[in-house]
Amino acid sequence: MLYNTSVKERPVNTGEERNTVRIFEKDGHKIIQGDVLDVLRTQISEASIDLIFVDPPYNIGKNFNGASDKWASDEEYLSWCYEWIDLCVLKLKPNGSFYLMTATQFTPYFDIYLRKRLSILSRIVWCYDSSGVQAKKYYGSLYEPILFCVKDVRNYTFNSQDIQITAKTGAQRKLIDYRKPIPTPYNTLKVPGNVWDFPRVRYRMDEYEDHPSQKPVALLERIIKASSNIGDTVLDPFSGTFTTSFVAQNLGRSSIGIEISEEYTKIGLRRLGIVDSYDETKLYAPTKSFKRRSKANEHAKDVEQGKLEL
Ligand SMILES: C[S@@+](CC[C@H](N)C(=O)[O-])C[C@H]1O[C@@H](n2cnc3c(N)ncnc32)[C@H](O)[C@@H]1O
Repeated sequence: MLYNTSVKERPVNTGEERNTVRIFEKDGHKIIQGDVLDVLRTQISEASIDLIFVDPPYNIGKNFNGASDKWASDEEYLSWCYEWIDLCVLKLKPNGSFYLMTATQFTPYFDIYLRKRLSILSRIVWCYDSSGVQAKKYYGSLYEPILFCVKDVRNYTFNSQDIQITAKTGAQRKLIDYRKPIPTPYNTLKVPGNVWDFPRVRYRMDEYEDHPSQKPVALLERIIKASSNIGDTVLDPFSGTFTTSFVAQNLGRSSIGIEISEEYTKIGLRRLGIVDSYDETKLYAPTKSFKRRSKANEHAKDVEQGKLEL
């Protein structure tokens, strides 16, 4: 058997409904399909996680595989968020780090709430270029905020040497440091500031999956390299396409990814190589309409879908 799958059923407090938690695990990577509050409460030990990256539903009406991310009121959305924030803080190790993304309009609430529980070290702006039609009667939104927080400002991981970038100085030639005994060019490698420029995931990119708010690999690479070490455990409570777990795996970290949608869970299972079929159906990466499917792949898919016999 390639993986351990345990299916647990637990009643929730509404009528006939039952919460199902499914756990898939292989080589230090765990995918848990279930509701975030339920899973955080019952499946994750206290003070066990080195790094948590959270990219929740933003309460802006996106469609997550048929489920709308719109709450009846902002107050209801925020009180739900505060519940999982408290649980995340509880699960974080004393030297752990916490990154939280959300829609710009909710960041101030999260900022004020988090200040009382963690230390916010950076307020990051992830900016990107425009895609599609931009606003014409106001300034369109081309960034998303990320709060970077730690539990203990005297004891946390920050591998600055692993995330250095070439600083943009605006100068045409290399600037020379004349204060040195022998004038030498300035070191242009710097730790990035708090404005990050990464393209959004586009359909034509290799990493593209079928999800409305997939985060780029490059964004998660920076976060995971900086705020965790090889062998550490990285948790993503709203995994979507499991970018966090995928990058953690590539960088030699362990991972736990939680996701409520079965369809998105299947993306994670495939992306992390935990299983290659689900309910006896082979899992495939999305076929792009602009790419010609290879003959072998086409044949395999047709056999799978019963269009051809072997
Ligand atoms: C903004 S997306 C995360 C995208 C992810 N960072 C990525 O790179 O693909 C939020 C995800 O949270 C999931 N979600 C919504 N409500 C949830 C809940 N109660 N428990 C667990 N996951 C939930 C949605 O299905 C959606 O995939």
